[in-house]
Amino acid sequence: MNIRNSNWITAGTAELAPVFIKKFTLSAPVKKASIAASALGLYEICINGVRVGDLRMTPGWTSYKKRVQWQEYDITPLLKAENEITISTAEGWCIGTLAWENHHHLWSDRIAVIASLEATLENGEIVTVNTDNSWSWGRGKIVRSEIYNGEIYDQRAEITAIGAAEIYDHTTDILTPQDGCDIREIEWLPAKELIITPEGDTVIDFGQEITGYVSFSVKGEAGHTCSIQHAEILDANGNFYIENLRAAKAMITYTCNGERWEYHPHFTFMGFRYIRLNNWPEEVSLKEFRAVVLHSDMKRTGHFECSDPELNRLYENIVWGQRGNFLDVPTDCPQRDERLGWTGDAQAFVRCAAYNYDVHDFFRKWLRDLAADQREDGRIPAVIPDVLGEGGAGSAAWGDAAVICPWQVYMAYGDLDMLRENFPAMKKWVDWIRAQGEREEVWNTGGHYGDWLNLDPNYKDEDQYMIATAYFAYSCSIVIKAGKLLGCDMSEYEALHTRIVEAFRALYMQDGRMLSRTQTAHVLAVYFDLCREEEKASLTADLAQLIHETGDHLATGFVGTPYLMHVLSENGQNETAYNLLLRREYPSWLYPVTMGATTIWERWNGIFPDGTINTPSMNSFNHYAYGAVGDWMMGRMAGITPIEPGYTRVALAPMPDPRVEWVKASIDTARGRIISEWKYEGAQVNYTFTIPAGVTAEITISGKTELCGEGRYSFTV
Ligand code: BGC
Repeated sequence: MNIRNSNWITAGTAELAPVFIKKFTLSAPVKKASIAASALGLYEICINGVRVGDLRMTPGWTSYKKRVQWQEYDITPLLKAENEITISTAEGWCIGTLAWENHHHLWSDRIAVIASLEATLENGEIVTVNTDNSWSWGRGKIVRSEIYNGEIYDQRAEITAIGAAEIYDHTTDILTPQDGCDIREIEWLPAKELIITPEGDTVIDFGQEITGYVSFSVKGEAGHTCSIQHAEILDANGNFYIENLRAAKAMITYTCNGERWEYHPHFTFMGFRYIRLNNWPEEVSLKEFRAVVLHSDMKRTGHFECSDPELNRLYENIVWGQRGNFLDVPTDCPQRDERLGWTGDAQAFVRCAAYNYDVHDFFRKWLRDLAADQREDGRIPAVIPDVLGEGGAGSAAWGDAAVICPWQVYMAYGDLDMLRENFPAMKKWVDWIRAQGEREEVWNTGGHYGDWLNLDPNYKDEDQYMIATAYFAYSCSIVIKAGKLLGCDMSEYEALHTRIVEAFRALYMQDGRMLSRTQTAHVLAVYFDLCREEEKASLTADLAQLIHETGDHLATGFVGTPYLMHVLSENGQNETAYNLLLRREYPSWLYPVTMGATTIWERWNGIFPDGTINTPSMNSFNHYAYGAVGDWMMGRMAGITPIEPGYTRVALAPMPDPRVEWVKASIDTARGRIISEWKYEGAQVNYTFTIPAGVTAEITISGKTELCGEGRYSFTV
């Protein structure tokens, strides 16, 4: 079976949710049968009324002009003598509206599907059914379904054929077998509470912000239409709040047929904790509603727990942030008219992500789209798949996702192919930076997002170029490491790297101190090795002093936050790191937790202490970027860090603080589970480590390092 030999078929440009229908007969019982399918748009297949497989949002989101995934399903038990296949569709990412500027038809002006069914019969006959103009198209119960706006569904409708499907002359060369994770319904949460708001709305609280949809059962008179809206929060008065969704309607509109039905949307998802029921035809009973958690089906690998319940909640929020935004593409947020594969956010969070879950396949796919969407000249678009075009392409820290993501995935899983495959894009990105401005070793031109959403009173516009040059050096250093692993001569880049570092020092440092008085400047200089080894302690002391001067809180944005804590802990300021971690007042990681957050907020100040909500124009309550602190919790607090890629060699170097009584964390690697635990007993700390076979651990406690192989080890200090 080769799906590329089949045909794209369409119902034309005007149809928003066509169903494609084919009837066929088989002359003997089926021994084995499968169907491969894909779409421009989204598709779901039914054979003889039974849904095929349990994947959702297929074929997934890729850069559809260059790569469209197809899926294959075993359908042996579904076929009979007389058969009917129906393929329901919707616009999805490919055709529908995306981004706040209401782009639509980004990759195609019409919905199209392609499928190829092959059945081997008991009598040896092989039957192939390909999509072609012998299929019909019609309409069904889904009136329209959109990523941002939700689904309109009419339970009364039956699938009715309207006309013959047309062959759509579109290349099949772009078809590629699914290389990302399956998207599935992963968990079902019961409704927690029924609320009548001060404004009189009927609202259900699921107790947790998720990405997915609500599955519900309802009975109303035929023709009665009711709807559900989705919200992340209630406002200070307890009213339903959807202003921050911007133009996304995130609404399910359901028309009853007189019978009780259980329904869930097919081709959309929402980021929500609360729903509002409009025009509900019956008394609301919580047991009829479940929140369905939808995301890429990744294996959970990391666990973190400690004596502080609020830190545990923070860690849970980080994991929920990942779950909510790892729906095929690493997105910024799941709720407003955005939900895009922002490169900056992905590079900030990738290492944390790889602790929590096995994200190897997830990133492999996304990085293929990144390479596909990289410009001829090497620039990386701001979001992947690219929907913004020139907007934001080539920003420092954002475009560096091309280098940082493959490197971190390589470190987590030790898959050299990850580097081999991505090396051309990594190098091309660095080469593009080299070509910017007049001096090859400095990146001080162009527009950058800078330290996005930072709170630093010392931050100035020109800091963006200090950040750009710092990332240039960092990406260059990774390209050198990757190139050497792949056996390339990297001497040219080594020389370049030396020059970038020297230029950075000359432009942005004086007498071993940073000219920029921002926290982020200090973080980058130390973390990216732009300063001399012997300057690290004093620069970090300066950083601690700046933190103190800023009011004993962090002020970093998307750029500084992922490395802030590492720099403090690794350079003699572990206590300051814990001050930041344990701070409960705004701004801090725990502040949203004290405000009842169940995911990570986009802004440190999404909701102010008095309950006022920050600007609705950009205020998501489920943005994983600041959750990057999870990688410090695993890597420094619990102290588990890969030294050799894939954890064949691991550092176990926990950095405790008496304000946290105990920590227990683990990571499942290809070689088994690595566990790190510590506990204060009075002034003593007891450490326990579990190391699986095939892993060598460098255990460092109080500055002393010991090499250990498989086993369980305890130390008291
Ligand atoms: C997104 C981001 C992103 C940023 C770029 C925002 O609209 O939500 O998280 O990185 O724009 O500056």
